[in-house]
Amino acid sequence: MYSRFQLGLKYFQYYLTASSGRGHGIHSPFVFDFITKILNDKNDHDDYEKVESLRKRLLHDKSVLDIEDFGAGSSSAGPGKREVTSVARHAVKSKKFGQLLYRIVKNYQPKTIIELGTSLGVTTSYLALANSASNLFTLEGAPELANVARQNFKDLQLENVKLVEGNFDHTLPAILYHLSAVDFAFVDGNHRREPTENYFHWLLAKSNSNSIFIFDDIHWSSEMEQAWNHIKDHIAVRCSIDLFFMGIIFFRHEFKEKQHFKIRW
Ligand SMILES: C[S@@+](CC[C@H](N)C(=O)[O-])C[C@H]1O[C@@H](n2cnc3c(N)ncnc32)[C@H](O)[C@@H]1O
Repeated sequence: MYSRFQLGLKYFQYYLTASSGRGHGIHSPFVFDFITKILNDKNDHDDYEKVESLRKRLLHDKSVLDIEDFGAGSSSAGPGKREVTSVARHAVKSKKFGQLLYRIVKNYQPKTIIELGTSLGVTTSYLALANSASNLFTLEGAPELANVARQNFKDLQLENVKLVEGNFDHTLPAILYHLSAVDFAFVDGNHRREPTENYFHWLLAKSNSNSIFIFDDIHWSSEMEQAWNHIKDHIAVRCSIDLFFMGIIFFRHEFKEKQHFKIRW
């Protein structure tokens, strides 16, 4: 992973070269709508409070979990004995990005959702609430994290979530085998080049024109930047949006020419 200094420099470069997050100069109606109606939606949705209360509770939870190592995930919430509060602080997507994922799912209403990397289930809860009619598979390798997440889903009465425990290398192919399509995927675990590219190719095999895949931490390390370049340059990807902390790809046939956007947000 990059040092804080390197990451700061990267962010600075991104900030200087990215287009403003207001949609000026964006000719694609789809991307313009995405920016103005989803990225910049400042409305307060009722579901936000449910997930943020859960986050608040986890941030105060001092119970200790024994977390197995399943791959590069977060700079400061790695494996070993860790308090729930530390995982909640360092491994879980922020409110800003969790709520963006909520709005994307709320807007496009994907039927089948896959999340790689459940952790405590905070982002899963955003995804599940955004479309309660979806089938959401969330994958986690560490059993003690999975137990906490399961209890959180019960507390929030989320009935559309299926937590699948085990290594992504085994659980993802097993799930995909039974699915005809994946409409939405959030890849947030095992931040290394080869596994990330593998997950992309496995998911790609079940994509359709309306699928949306999101990759977390695309500038976290040189390996993740290589993986992101591989993904966005793939012939099947018609449009990509780089938000620095995550990358979004679309396969929509309406994009006659491949387009790549870097948006300051
Ligand atoms: C960054 S956390 C996920 C955070 C979560 N998406 C959120 O925002 O609330 C990544 C998780 O992926 C899990 N993980 C990483 N690599 C894995 C693998 N190869 N198989 C199974 N789980 C894995 C880790 O145990 C960790 O809990």
